[in-house]
Amino acid sequence: MDKHLITGGAPLEGDVRISGAKNSVLPILAGCLLTDESVVIKNVPHLNDVTTMMKLLGQMGANLTVSEGLTIEVEARGLNQPYAPYELVRTMRASILVLGPLVAKYGHATVSLPGGCAIGPRPVDFHVEGLRKMGAEITVEGGYIQAVAKNGLKGANINFDIVSVTGTENLMMAAVLAKGKTIIENAAREPEVQDLGNFLNMLGANIQGHGTSTIVIEGVKSLKGGTYTVLPDRVETGTYLVAAAMTGGRIVAKATRANILTSVLEKLEEAGAHIATGEDWVSLDMRGNRPKAVDIYTSPFPGFPTDMQAQFMALNTVAIGKGILTETVFENRFMHAHELRRMGANIQLNGNTAIIEGVPHLTAAPVMATDLRASASLVLAGLVAKGTTTVDRIYHIDRGYECIEEKLAQLGATIKRVAA
Ligand code: UD1
Repeated sequence: MDKHLITGGAPLEGDVRISGAKNSVLPILAGCLLTDESVVIKNVPHLNDVTTMMKLLGQMGANLTVSEGLTIEVEARGLNQPYAPYELVRTMRASILVLGPLVAKYGHATVSLPGGCAIGPRPVDFHVEGLRKMGAEITVEGGYIQAVAKNGLKGANINFDIVSVTGTENLMMAAVLAKGKTIIENAAREPEVQDLGNFLNMLGANIQGHGTSTIVIEGVKSLKGGTYTVLPDRVETGTYLVAAAMTGGRIVAKATRANILTSVLEKLEEAGAHIATGEDWVSLDMRGNRPKAVDIYTSPFPGFPTDMQAQFMALNTVAIGKGILTETVFENRFMHAHELRRMGANIQLNGNTAIIEGVPHLTAAPVMATDLRASASLVLAGLVAKGTTTVDRIYHIDRGYECIEEKLAQLGATIKRVAA
């Protein structure tokens, strides 16, 4: 298992190119199953989760061609195996996203119950209930979801009890080829949901309201092909900006968009950062200062993203003052707190609240990544700790951060990957 060795101390300085969004490209790849025609996807990040989704589509019978310039061509015509096995699904929860498209296009699907990040129970009941409402017969047996819709899916009114990102995406994809109109209420408004809607409309779907909490989908007979460029990754952008803020540095994140991370930029300004934005860039300048502690309350978009919570916990560990962090989206998403404590952080946990009293500096220690964003927080802590921190189990980070050590090294960090 690979490890990261990080020697802290250097303020980050320079430019970093932001990759395409993991949480956009995964549903978009699944959405390719809805059409027989060829689809070209651009700005695809090179990530383990993307490779897993490609393997999944490939073993179902789709043809995939990867070319230079971060482009993938998918042709899902003549798919012969609408089946997602446990071996692939267990490594990536987002594999559940093939369920909606497969039932909509082929009338049946067998998909393993997902694994993925170990953050809370994370059920898929909304996905299953939504498809049932659309006329699918669903049984769960032996760890697999079996869905059948002999006469195709039909439009339905769906109201989510809790906002679910992949739940909204799965049902939106299923509704695209269903007979009649589907209305999704209390839908997720995340930019990645909007990106998926734009992609499907480009293929000929009739979706309105994506990006708002009510999405209306009028089913169409079939979709065509096309070329689509994936949205920039707002979590990757935020992670590099936090890294610069913690180290007292100055960076420019390029090929990104400020309007998809407003709540994060507001918190960075509150922490004392000087932020400037342009059409496709965001710059942050800490002018050598230590950050001020900030309070964070996670909630669905446009609220503060749960996927940035761990990174702000890392920031608070070295900030001036006390920060209170409340996690409302997932249970059990504070595993990084225990590892940060091993580096000298002062964190108290109380249910879904973490109280962090900033210390002047952290001290390097061997730490273990437990999930994707938790591992990012440990790398950030390593960047400011005295000495050399070893982060173990970095396969988690490879699921969601493209070339992280190259990008950080380019900004002046001392980081390398070693094979254990
Ligand atoms: C997506 C993102 C993930 C992000 C999360 C919240 C992708 C691939 N992943 O995950 O990075 O952290 O949104 O922004 O886009 N829930 C249920 N039943 C369900 C579905 C969800 O109870 O059927 C609950 C979950 O346990 C959780 C909440 O709803 O408490 C929100 O989860 P959800 O938005 O579905 O997360 P994901 O789509 O899995």
